[in-house]
Amino acid sequence: MMITPEQLVAQAKEAMLRAYAPYSDCFVGAALLGKSGKVYMGCNIENASFSPTICAERTAFSKAVSEGEKEFVAIAIVGGKHGEVKDVFAPCGVCRQVMAEFCDPDTFLLYLVHENGYDTHTLGELLPCGFYPKSVKGE
Ligand code: THU
Repeated sequence: MMITPEQLVAQAKEAMLRAYAPYSDCFVGAALLGKSGKVYMGCNIENASFSPTICAERTAFSKAVSEGEKEFVAIAIVGGKHGEVKDVFAPCGVCRQVMAEFCDPDTFLLYLVHENGYDTHTLGELLPCGFYPKSVKGE
């Protein structure tokens, strides 16, 4: 990996500061590492109409894909109520499914940040028996 997990975690924490979360007061940041070596930062962006809210992870994926990157190495995720990091802010089911669209279940790594460091998981661990593009493509 071109940057260290600690550097990716630091970028996720930086992104968390930019969260727009006036309704939940949950601040979430993500830093997504593409195979190119580029890092895409994302924060959650809430909306008065609630359903248009987008999670930090999907903000990062949307930025990456729209800039032409579709292969990924890892993502660091950090979050907390009032912006205070305590336990991990695990990715929601929708975000896990978006990861399944672009990421390998065995090699894509998630660094889930907590107050004492971070836990490392593969996508397959967090999305067991997942639905992947190969099923639809007939591969
Ligand atoms: N949120 C994320 O950004 N990522 C997740 O995976 C879980 C939830 C955000 C969405 C919303 O702004 C707030 O956290 C509370 O659900």
